[in-house]
Formats: sequence, structure tokens, C-alpha cells
Amino acid sequence: MLIIFFAQFFLLPAARFGMSREASPVLLDIQQGYAVMSNGILKVNMTVPGGFVIGISYQALHNLLSTDNPHNNRGYWSVTWNHLTNKTQIMDKLEGTSFKVIAQSEDQVEVSFTRTWNGSATHPPLHVDRRLIMLRGLSGFYTYSIYERLEGWPGMHVGENRLAFKLRQDMFDYMAISNGRQRMMPTEEDRKTGQQLEYPEAVLLTNPIDPSIKGEVDDKYFYSKDSKDIKVHGWVSTKNDPPLGFWMICPSMEFRIGGPFKQDLTSHVGPTLLSKFSGRHYAGRGLDITFQNGEPWKKVFGPEFVYLNSDSSAENDPSLLWNDAWKRMNQEVENWPYDFPLSKDYMKSQQRGTVRGRLLVHDWFSDEQPVPASNAYVGLALPGEPGSWQKENKGYQFWTEADKDGNFIIKGVIVGTYALHATVPGRIGNYKYDSFDVNIKPGSDIELGDLVYKPPRNGATLWDIGVAERTAAEFYIPNPDPKYKVHKFKDQPKNKFREYGLWKRYADLYPDRDLVFIVGKSDYSKDWFFAHVTRELENGTFGDTTRQIVFELQSVNKTSYYTLQLALAAAHQADIQLRFNDKDAELPHFSTGIIGTDNAVARHGIHGLYWLFSFRVRGSWLVPGNNTIFMTNGGAFTRWRGLLYDYIRFEGPDQFKVSM
Ligand SMILES: *[C@@H]1O[C@H](CO)[C@@H](O)[C@H](O)[C@H]1NC(C)=O
Ligand SMILES: *[C@@H]1O[C@H](CO)[C@@H](O)[C@H](O)[C@H]1NC(C)=O
Ligand SMILES: *[C@@H]1O[C@H](CO)[C@@H](O)[C@H](O)[C@H]1NC(C)=O
Ligand SMILES: *[C@@H]1O[C@H](CO)[C@@H](O)[C@H](O)[C@H]1NC(C)=O
Ligand SMILES: *[C@@H]1O[C@H](CO)[C@@H](O)[C@H](O)[C@H]1NC(C)=O
Ligand SMILES: *[C@@H]1O[C@H](CO)[C@@H](O)[C@H](O)[C@H]1NC(C)=O
Repeated sequence: MLIIFFAQFFLLPAARFGMSREASPVLLDIQQGYAVMSNGILKVNMTVPGGFVIGISYQALHNLLSTDNPHNNRGYWSVTWNHLTNKTQIMDKLEGTSFKVIAQSEDQVEVSFTRTWNGSATHPPLHVDRRLIMLRGLSGFYTYSIYERLEGWPGMHVGENRLAFKLRQDMFDYMAISNGRQRMMPTEEDRKTGQQLEYPEAVLLTNPIDPSIKGEVDDKYFYSKDSKDIKVHGWVSTKNDPPLGFWMICPSMEFRIGGPFKQDLTSHVGPTLLSKFSGRHYAGRGLDITFQNGEPWKKVFGPEFVYLNSDSSAENDPSLLWNDAWKRMNQEVENWPYDFPLSKDYMKSQQRGTVRGRLLVHDWFSDEQPVPASNAYVGLALPGEPGSWQKENKGYQFWTEADKDGNFIIKGVIVGTYALHATVPGRIGNYKYDSFDVNIKPGSDIELGDLVYKPPRNGATLWDIGVAERTAAEFYIPNPDPKYKVHKFKDQPKNKFREYGLWKRYADLYPDRDLVFIVGKSDYSKDWFFAHVTRELENGTFGDTTRQIVFELQSVNKTSYYTLQLALAAAHQADIQLRFNDKDAELPHFSTGIIGTDNAVARHGIHGLYWLFSFRVRGSWLVPGNNTIFMTNGGAFTRWRGLLYDYIRFEGPDQFKVSM
């Protein structure tokens, strides 16, 4: 009887996690100052009560983490934060002050390292509960964190919030962040012997150990990805026999800020693996999480799965380990939401709900009837304006890609009240369902039926430039300066923008005169330089640049309004000034004022935050025949002032059609 009972007991988790029934039990060994979890596959050594991961042994290897680094710099969670009244950011590695065993059985060990705020001005007003979980038979471990602020605590800003692992330099040499982007990597030493370029992260490899990569640039921003695509990344030791991989698996993006297109770092030279939950990258200071004095908050970050694998056949092809990690990631995604984390703050599937529906789009100019919003991104975020999700950073967000018929199902939504948002490829603007906020209760299955997005439009399209897809990818992207050697990633043709120094190529291509685009003649994929940047002057200062769009009108209704729809994919301290047919007009007809701090051009992003301006153009500014719009990236005092265009459309006289 007893034997049967045990067999059944192990069968359940076995079915769920692919555990082997013969697998060794999970053990927890608590010593003075340390605790070690092991399951016969790996051992995880943590400081007690600090909760730093200081050792991960796997197979015969004593430690995969960098033993050169101090205990608090191998495997840790950290935040950068500052007081509301003091802009100086402080990095805090959230060292625990109290240790607790939450569960200890042969199948699961879960431990908790907590630190509560004690009124100290040098510590963030946050209660932190950091958890680690090891399951029987699994080649890895889980970690998640619960951050909480109680009512009455002082306000604060939180910038970076992340999980980091620093691996052994003498082992890990190959990095993979996607099918197309994986390689033997330069080393930390190569960066030290190299030449720093225009910012510290970018280094020209002048004297690398592997001579074949001499002349390449190393920069961690080459390995940034959109949140929706950050699911697994990591490192391989090709030197080990057998080769082994160390992977960060992120099964859900529900706890990340800023929606599906928020970009951030993944893995980079160190060897380092990051899981970024929040931060300013490709978005700016505005993405800092701001808590007013007294404001309470609680949020669970994770779990993430740290996965280890090895395969002797990977000796000649390290990507085999990537392929296996990808498979494991899909398994973790399937298991999400997990049922084993023991914090009641981590919502299990019965505390979550589902929202479904079909999104259509109706633009009277192009569609007689509403048409499916094929492949739209549809998501739930804390209530806010259309598009507010790209800056929303306190709640959870749940996104999905609709199918080609516009059908969407958002599963695993944590109980709460949300706005339903969407963005539709090929269409400008942001959709928000405005009939009601979506209220998720445990087990909800909400059918919203057919929803219709009517993108902004005032008149017929007279001309347009680009594709409304929130990136500048379709425009002309130059090759880098030949003095920087291009690394031949498989995904390079699709990611031409991930090269160092492209901003300087504008002045090479347009040394004395700025770009002129002639509607009907020019081709945006060749003639519209993707980034609107400044020009370095001979005396070392930076001058503004002015593009021209020339277009012909048969006739003009002088008493009507036309519309210029200007969608930007990124902006960094840019001031776009528009002048119609009068280059020297002292005051521009329109100016955006200084906008954006997303630094996407310098970080080789093809987009940062999305902006849409609908400028109302007076017919009296236009003439029959040729017209010119002068577009200036104004007030250019630095190299990095600039912007990326997404899409530009000029619409004829107002002609509001009643649709549906
Ligand atoms: C855990 O790390 C400590 C500090 O390096 C070390 O003394 C201890 O032996 C380690 N435990 C195991 C089981 O590796
Ligand atoms: C601001 O914070 C930093 C870092 O904690 C501290 O060194 C500095 O003294 C603070 N400045 C003021 C004006 O309080
Ligand atoms: C508050 O907590 C910090 C961090 O754990 C600790 O260094 C400090 O001594 C504590 N201060 C007081 C007054 O307890
Ligand atoms: C640099 O040159 C530009 C263009 O010739 C000029 O307008 C500017 O005043 C100069 N700046 C300085 C600091 O010399
Ligand atoms: C010009 O625009 C005005 C205002 O929109 C409109 O009333 C008028 O009919 C238009 N004229 C022509 C010739 O289309
Ligand atoms: C407008 O400019 C284009 C390109 O320079 C030229 O080919 C065309 O003849 C011009 N049209 C008029 C009406 O001047």
C-alpha cells in the first residue's frame, strides 16, 4: 500500500515537470552563514541570512559562478532607487536580514530571505522577500521576489530592478540570446585592452585574444530585446567536457514594466546574465517607478527559472544547448502560472482569469467595412489613457498577439481592474476599449465580443512615408563605418540597426546639404535616413539638421485644414520644428517642444517610446504645385539629440466620415 501511495505521489509532479521518478530527493543543508539546496543534479549555495547565491555546482564542477567576485556579486537581486527629494540614485543589493525555510520535502525546498524597512534613510522603504525554490529532478532552480511598501512609508523612485548572475570567465565563452544572435564572445580582458568609443559601454576591440574579432565593437546594447521576446538567454561553456549551458528562463512578462515593446538588456560580456524587471533603458527617467509619500504597493517579480544543461554533442555546435534551453523555456511557459511557489502573493491559476474577444479595425479611407486587426498586440494594464501602458510600471501587464483574424485570448490574468489596450500593425495610434474597465475575478472568463478600433484620421491620404509599425526598421539604415568590423550574426540582415556609430553616417552621406525627400520620386527604404540626428561641426559642437519633404498639390482649399500625422518610434531631447514652405520663418508652424529621453539611437534600438502627433495644417500655408515641409531637429547641442521616425502621413482637407 505504502509503495503505491508513493508511486502516485511522485507521478503527479512527474507528469507536470518531466521529473524522473528515480531522481534524488531535494536536500537542504543549513550551516553557519550558508545554506545549500541540492537535488543530485545541482547544488545552490546561498549566504544566510543575506540570500546571495554564491555557488552553483553542477556535475563535477565546484562552482559555475565567478569565484573572483565577492559574495554579493555572483547571483543577486538589486534595485537602484532614490528619495523623492534627492536625485542621486543608490544601488542596493537587498541583502536579507532574516532567513526562513518555507518548505522542505523530498520534492521541494523553498527558502525565503527577507529584509524589512527599519526607517533607515540609506535603505529603500521596501519590504523584500526573496525566494528560491528547488524541485526534485529539475536541472535548475526558481527565484522570485515580493516587494512591498506599507502605508505611511516615505516616497521613493525605483529605477533599475533586476536579477543578475555573474559566471566564471575561464569557462563561459559562447552566448546565445536568440536563434539568430549567438556567438563566441569577446572577453572582459578584450574590453580592457580595447579602446572606449563614444560612451563607456562601447569598446573597439583592438587587441582581442581571438584575433579574428579584432576591429569589432563590443557593446551590451547589441543584445537588447523587446520584452515580449525576452524569454530565454544565456551562456555556454564550450571548453567544458561535456559543454554546458547556463540559462535565464523568463516564462512570463507579466511583472515587467512598459508593455511588450519595452526593450532591455539580456546577457553580455562578463559573462553576465540579467533579468530586468524595470529600468530606464530605451524609455528614460519617466519610467522610474515613483511612489508618493505614504503610498502602499506590493508586487511579485518572477519566478524566473535558472536552467543548466549539458550535451557532449554540443562540442562542435554549442547552439544545440540553446535549442534545448528553448525547449525548456516552452515547457516553463506551458506550466505558467506555476502551482508550486508557496507565497500566497504569487497568484495560482485559480486566482486568475481569462479575457477574449476579436479586434477589428475600421479606417474609412482604407476599409469599407471593419477588417480583422491581424496580429495586433492586445493587452491589459492598469487603467489609464490609450497608450499609457508603455509608461505604466506599478501593476502587472498581460499581452497577447491576436491571430490573423483578430481573435485574442489573454489567459492567466491576475485578479484586478485593467484597461484593455491594443496596437495594430500598419495602423497609427493606440486602441483602448472604452466601454468599461475589465474586472478580473478568480476564474473569470470574459468574452468581449467584437471590438472596433478607429485609428486617427481627418482626411484622405495624400501621401505617406514608411509603415506604421512603431519602428524605423523600414527606412534607410546605413552600413557602419568600415573601420568597425561587422560581426556576421545570422540575424544581421534583419537587425542592421544593431551596429555602432550609425548616427555619424548621416553626416558622411549628407556632408553639406540635408536630406530632401520628393514624394512620388524618392523611396523611403533608400532615401529616408532612419534617424534624424545632429551634425558634428568642425569646432566640435553639434548643429541641427533640417530635412525637407517636397510634395505636389493639384489644388489647395485655403480655408480648410489638412493634417500631418507624425508618428515617432523614438525621441531623445529632440525638438521637432515644422515649417511649411518657409524655411526661414522665425517661428516654426509647429514645435513639439523638447521631448523624449529614450536614448534609443545611441543604444542601437530601432525604437524607443512611441509618439503620435496630429498637426493641423492650415490650407493657407499651402500652395498649388510644389510644397516643402522643413523638419528640423532643433536646439541641437549634443550628439545624442535625435529621433526615429515611424510613419508620416499627409491628409487632405477635413472630411470626417461617420463610420459603421
Ligand atoms: C558554501 O559556500 C561557503 C563559502 O564559500 C563554503 O564555505 C561552503 O563549503 C559552501 N558549501 C558547499 C556545500 O559547497
Ligand atoms: C542625496 O543622496 C546621496 C546618496 O545617498 C547622499 O550622498 C547625499 O548626501 C544626499 N544629498 C542630500 C542633499 O541629501
Ligand atoms: C536598518 O537596517 C539596515 C540594513 O539591514 C542595517 O544596516 C541598519 O543597521 C538598521 N538600522 C537600525 C537602526 O536598525
Ligand atoms: C561652432 O561653429 C558653429 C557653425 O560654424 C557656430 O555657429 C558656433 O557658434 C560655433 N561654436 C563655438 C563654441 O565656437
Ligand atoms: C473648402 O473648405 C471649406 C471648409 O472646410 C469648405 O466649406 C468648402 O466647401 C471647401 N471648398 C471646396 C472647393 O472644396
Ligand atoms: C515639383 O517638383 C518636382 C521635383 O523637383 C518636379 O519634377 C515637378 O515638375 C515640380 N512640379 C511643379 C508643378 O513645379
